[in-house]
Amino acid sequence: MSFRKTPLTSHLGVEITGIDLAADLGTDPDSTADEGAGGNLFGDLKQAWLDAGGMMVIRDQTLTRNQHMAFSRRFGPLFHDPGQPPLQDTVSRYLHPDHPQIYRVSNKVDEQGEPLGRARAGTYWHSDVSFRDRPAGASVLYGIEVPDHGGDTIFANMTAAYAALSDGFKAILDGLEAVHDFAVAAATQYAQPLVIEGDFDGANRSVHPVVRTHGETGRKSLYVNPGFTSHLKDFSAEESKAILQPLYDFATRPEFLYRHRWRSGDVVVWDNRCLMHYAIKDYTADRYMERCTAIGERPV
Ligand code: SIN
Repeated sequence: MSFRKTPLTSHLGVEITGIDLAADLGTDPDSTADEGAGGNLFGDLKQAWLDAGGMMVIRDQTLTRNQHMAFSRRFGPLFHDPGQPPLQDTVSRYLHPDHPQIYRVSNKVDEQGEPLGRARAGTYWHSDVSFRDRPAGASVLYGIEVPDHGGDTIFANMTAAYAALSDGFKAILDGLEAVHDFAVAAATQYAQPLVIEGDFDGANRSVHPVVRTHGETGRKSLYVNPGFTSHLKDFSAEESKAILQPLYDFATRPEFLYRHRWRSGDVVVWDNRCLMHYAIKDYTADRYMERCTAIGERPV
């Protein structure tokens, strides 16, 4: 089996067709075991993803939950896997009851009128789980039911944005650290009654470099986001805003963006180490998606 690759923009994203993620994708690229029938298909797919800036759209998939989780684990252990940390408790009501590794993103309700998923998940610029010491690496979102129009997701290329800054500004940013805190999202993006107070116990607050170096590509990216970054370490709130807001404005210029229009059966894999994303809540039709989130490395 092989697959076809089509670039989605000149700077970010690749569309993958002609592959079945439920099939044998071969051994882990780092494994020394016999490659088996799938050869190194996953290694080729992952390389295509890294080459495309950490953004790939895999079309026409039909996956069981176990297949979705197994594919996602190729990118790293998942939040809620045995022995791995959970996501923040506030989202616990949206996790699949039998598979807590699966976070449900949906505006649908069950027979009792209870939400099936979080309808307003990610309706702000953010990088998944950046408030943890080991934040998300890859997120793998499976679009099971999508509106005919609306409900797009936008991705911002933080590697390209960093590269486009002047050497002088890069030198200033390179030495800075930022505080990421779930409380920022809780105060501004979540209805207050939804928030589970235990999420403020310190586990959801971390300090990371403003510019991080990707563990696999070696490329530098901006690593701050309006959703979860509270302030720059050792700077006042006012001073932080004066630096961070222009950075956000710069990184979300059209030339750094890819806007994904969903088709049902899409599996979109994005790399939170070098991208921000924003889910547009502009639809009323049913939308049902399931996300697995791989735990990445500590940013350096
Ligand atoms: C998310 O942030 O994972 C949600 C993305 C989306 O609903 O498009």
